[in-house]
Amino acid sequence: MNIKLAVIPGDGIGPEVTEQAQKVLDKIANVYNHKFEYKTLLAGGAAIDAVGACLPDETITVCKASDAVLLGAVGGWKWDTLPGDKRPEMALLGLRKELGLFANIRPALLFDELADACPLKKEIISSGASGKVELDIVVIRELTGGIYFGEKGYKDTPLGKAAYDVEIYAEEEVRRIAVVAFDMAMKRSKKVTSVDKANVLESSRLWRQVVGETAKNYPEVKLENLYIDNAAMQLVRNPRQFDVIVTGNMFGDILSDEASMITGSIGMLPSASLGKSSFGMYEPVHGSAPDIAGQDKANPMATILSVAMMLRYSFALSNEADAIERAVKAVLSKGFRTGDICSDGKNLIGTKEAGDLIASEVR
Ligand code: IPM
Ligand code: MG
Repeated sequence: MNIKLAVIPGDGIGPEVTEQAQKVLDKIANVYNHKFEYKTLLAGGAAIDAVGACLPDETITVCKASDAVLLGAVGGWKWDTLPGDKRPEMALLGLRKELGLFANIRPALLFDELADACPLKKEIISSGASGKVELDIVVIRELTGGIYFGEKGYKDTPLGKAAYDVEIYAEEEVRRIAVVAFDMAMKRSKKVTSVDKANVLESSRLWRQVVGETAKNYPEVKLENLYIDNAAMQLVRNPRQFDVIVTGNMFGDILSDEASMITGSIGMLPSASLGKSSFGMYEPVHGSAPDIAGQDKANPMATILSVAMMLRYSFALSNEADAIERAVKAVLSKGFRTGDICSDGKNLIGTKEAGDLIASEVR
C-alpha cells in the first residue's frame, strides 16, 4: 500500500516519540512492502512559536488530504499563561472537531511482562481460577461534544464574575458513539458499561436513554449503566468487571487516565480517534511531559502501539499491526525498560534505543 501520513510531532516529548514510531513504520514498509509518505506539520506550542497560532490552516488542509494523522503531544509550561482560546491544547480540540473524529478509542491493556508495574494488589487483577494477571479494558470516549464544546463564557452574578461551560449532547451524538461501543463489544466479550451522571444531569438522562435504545439492536450485548463516581471507584475496586466502557467527553478524559494508570504506565497506552470513515488520528494517551523533553527518557511504546492501531483501523493491515505489537512484547520480555516502567534500574533504555530495538524485532 501507498500511505500518505500527516505527522504532527507537537511539543515536549512529542517529536522524540513520533520519530521512533516512524522508525518502526519504516521497518514495516520494508518488510511488508508498503510505502509511507510523511508530511510533517505544525500544531500546538510549536506552531504558536513558529507562526503565532496553535492550529495553522495548512495543518488542517494537509491532514484532510492525508490517509491518517500521527500526533505526538501538545502543550507545556511555556504556553500555560496564554488565554484559554490561544493555548496549545486548542489545536488538539480543533483537529478533532475539524476532522470529525467523534470516537476516541483508548485500550487499557496490562502486558503480562509489566504485571509488577500495576499499582493494584495481585488478587484484584488476577482471575481467581488461573491466577493469571488480566486487565483488558477499552474506554470509548465521545470526543467532539459535551462540555468541551458547549457554550462557554463569563457573566456577572450576585456573587461576582462567573464563568460557565455548558454540557450538551444531541441524540445523534450519543447514538453514533454508542454504535461504536456496541460494535466493539460484539468483537470482544459482549459487555458494555455506559458511564454518566443521570442522577443529576439532564444531558446524562438523554445519554442513558439513547444508549438504551441503541442496545436494542444488539440483543447479545449486556448493557450496564453506572454513575461516573461509582465507575471511578469500581475501576480500582474491581477493574476486571469492565470490558468496553462508553462515556462522554469529560468523563472519558478522566476515566481513561485512571484506566491507564492501573495498567502500570500511561507511557504504554495508545489511542485512536475515528470518525465516520477509515480516516483517523493516532496518538499516545500521555501528554507532552515537558519535564523530560529532549532527554531521551520518554517511553515511545504508546506512540508505536498507536501506529499499530492505525494500521489495523485505518488500513485493515492486521498482520502488520500484530507484528508491531509482537515486537513491543518481545522487547519487554527481553527485560528492556524505559524509565517509567523500570523499577530496579536494570536494562534501562532510552527513547531512541527503545525505537531501535522494537524496529529490529519487527518480522
Ligand atoms: C487527552 C488530553 C486532552 C483532552 C487535552 C490535552 C486537551 O487530556 O487527550 O486526554 O482533554 O482531551
Ligand atoms: Mg486527558
